[in-house]
Amino acid sequence: MPVTIIVGAQWGDEGKGKIVDMLSDEIDIVARYQGGANAGHTVVIGDKEYVLHLIPSGIFHKRTTCVIGNGVVIDPVALMDEIAMIKSFGIRIDGRLFISHNAHLIMPYHKMLDVIREKDAGDQKIGTTGRGIGPAYIDKYMRTGIRVVDLLNRKTLADKLKANIAEKNQLLKKIYGAVEIDVDKIIAEYQEFDTKIDPYITDTMMYLNNALKKNKRILAEGAQGALLDVDHGTYPFVTSSNPTSGGACTGLGIPPTAVKKIIGIVKAYSTRVGNGPFPTELNDPTGERLRKIGGEYGATTGRPRRCGWLDMVSLKYSIQVNGISEIALTKLDVLDDFDEIRVCTGYTVNGTPLKSFSSEVATLETVTPVYKSFKGWKKDITGIRKYKQLPPATVKYIEAIEKLSGTKISLVSVGARRDQTIVR
Ligand code: GDP
Ligand code: IMO
Ligand code: MG
Repeated sequence: MPVTIIVGAQWGDEGKGKIVDMLSDEIDIVARYQGGANAGHTVVIGDKEYVLHLIPSGIFHKRTTCVIGNGVVIDPVALMDEIAMIKSFGIRIDGRLFISHNAHLIMPYHKMLDVIREKDAGDQKIGTTGRGIGPAYIDKYMRTGIRVVDLLNRKTLADKLKANIAEKNQLLKKIYGAVEIDVDKIIAEYQEFDTKIDPYITDTMMYLNNALKKNKRILAEGAQGALLDVDHGTYPFVTSSNPTSGGACTGLGIPPTAVKKIIGIVKAYSTRVGNGPFPTELNDPTGERLRKIGGEYGATTGRPRRCGWLDMVSLKYSIQVNGISEIALTKLDVLDDFDEIRVCTGYTVNGTPLKSFSSEVATLETVTPVYKSFKGWKKDITGIRKYKQLPPATVKYIEAIEKLSGTKISLVSVGARRDQTIVR
């Protein structure tokens, strides 16, 4: 059974877009299973850079079809912009993009509530992307959410919107002191999406399971990363979905028995955007250097990403919770010019070693990382395509990560472009 899941093994932005695009050449269907337009997946082809938020990163391969699964929360405004952007590059999208009828929609009030809540959150500010993700998933689990299928029936859509907006207006006015939403304006706006989205709406669960019967190769593209998972991440500083591999089955409606491979995308160092614990964070010139060389600014919000060394303690946790069978190590070239490279191999609390990772914020905030030091290779590796041609110090770093994680590194990425990849 040919399903491969791609998961971010850290706090997102590991380079999932690049790896998914690169692997899509030999894939029939690429499917996003959770999250929404909070994701920013960058694909670089030649000298052009594309940032995708909702559309799967396989879209640039003509014979690959793309699915937005039931687990995704879809902002129709963002989706329409993205479809127009892709079409403007001369890429055919009709007949190649399928959107689940069961996916929930992000409404303007979700985005408003996301931003207003954050503004009032003080110490508890998560640093969300402001894309309405949390409020949309709240409505999904509250069972009041509006789904893609609702766009097809104008009366149902209007009724559901009226009920939702009446409640949200109470919240906005009485709790947040904000302006109320105009129901008619939103109804008119969303009724327009029906004709635009209609051609793409499909029962994607059926589509994917039929494809499985025909032995088609499916790549499930995770957004965010394991440490941002609502169940397994550093709660409450997480996103509101399950980026971990289990999320692929519920978010697409495919059985776990169909999954054969789980590739964890691991950046050669660590980054985090938004708030929350980050044991190996470097608030010093080395951290700034990583940010500058790695271009570590959010693909969605443009915010500077927090940077630090690779953390094997959290990575081992991520490998366990996702069942990662192999690693794609990305952005290794960013370390080309460092004299010394560090890897966190353990944590201590008040001098006592901590046995394993804890996703508890209170614990993570008190840990001190224990580092192993590696000599930098001080060489430009961006042009290398064969593993054997990598400098000995680079190989030593890669193989140390393999040994410490107990997981094979099957891909090494040495640049943002498709071709800048070493397949082992
Ligand atoms: P994603 O959210 O996991 O898809 O990652 P992002 O696209 O948000 O961030 C990764 C950034 O690193 C993007 O700007 C990519 O173009 C870039 N990138 C990906 N792989 C590499 C690599 O191996 N080397 C370098 N230098 N940049 C890379
Ligand atoms: P990709 O798919 C990195 C972070 C936000 C915030 C937290 C919650 O590009 O790797 P949300 O808007 O989801 O409610 O914000 O999660 N976050 C990401 N960080 N990469 C992402 O996606 C992210 N999507 C959300 O910064 O800390
Ligand atoms: Mg990103």
